[in-house]
Amino acid sequence: MSRLIYYVASSLDGFIADEHDSLDWLLSQEQAPGGGNDYESFIANIGAIAMGSTTYEWVLANGGWGYEMPAWVLTTRELAVPPVAEGAAAADVHFAHGQVTEVYEAMREAARGKDLWVVGGGDLAGQFADAGLLDEVHLSIAPVTLAGGRPLLPRRLDLELIEHSTNGAFLTARHRVRRQGN
Ligand SMILES: NC(=O)c1ccc[n+]([C@@H]2O[C@H](COP(=O)([O-])OP(=O)(O)OC[C@H]3O[C@@H](n4cnc5c(N)ncnc54)[C@H](OP(=O)(O)O)[C@@H]3O)[C@@H](O)[C@H]2O)c1
Repeated sequence: MSRLIYYVASSLDGFIADEHDSLDWLLSQEQAPGGGNDYESFIANIGAIAMGSTTYEWVLANGGWGYEMPAWVLTTRELAVPPVAEGAAAADVHFAHGQVTEVYEAMREAARGKDLWVVGGGDLAGQFADAGLLDEVHLSIAPVTLAGGRPLLPRRLDLELIEHSTNGAFLTARHRVRRQGN
């Protein structure tokens, strides 16, 4: 059964990007392969991803599209698919808008039993949580405060800590989203 996971890194004061959508404060932190919330282990079991348009545009502007699994980008605008590098396969990107329930169903079908990743931002993870679809939050906390920016998860949720560790400079934790009755 696919889990829908919000796997994300934040500042100590709960922001995933600064007010200029910069991630310099994050990408400059030391990481330890094999540590808590290890990216390679995580991505190996991801069958589909979802992200908002700000994140999509950030990815395209900062190194380009590198995801091999199907992706859903939430937007109300007409956005272009990622450019294809010579000899590479076309990116499997779908644009969607409105309720995330249909996006979730399409992701689940495409993932064939693998997990689903909400890349960000925080409100999109919140939209999945509002629909009762968010299963876990895997958080890596960088030792920096930003005092403002894009919020981690602007919803009121009840979570259960299921694992905690470190990864280089990061404090890492995995949480299960508690729903009514569980
Ligand atoms: N620290 C990390 O690990 C991490 C992870 C992911 C992202 N980030 C960064 O965090 C920032 C996130 O930006 P953000 O908070 O603005 O969030 P975002 O989710 O990336 O983008 C928000 C935009 O997506 C579109 N959208 C969202 N939900 C929609 C829906 N249901 N239907 C239609 N359109 C929808 C809207 O834009 P339009 O309709 O105008 O297109 C909305 O303004 C970015 O800078 C990103 O690079 C950091």
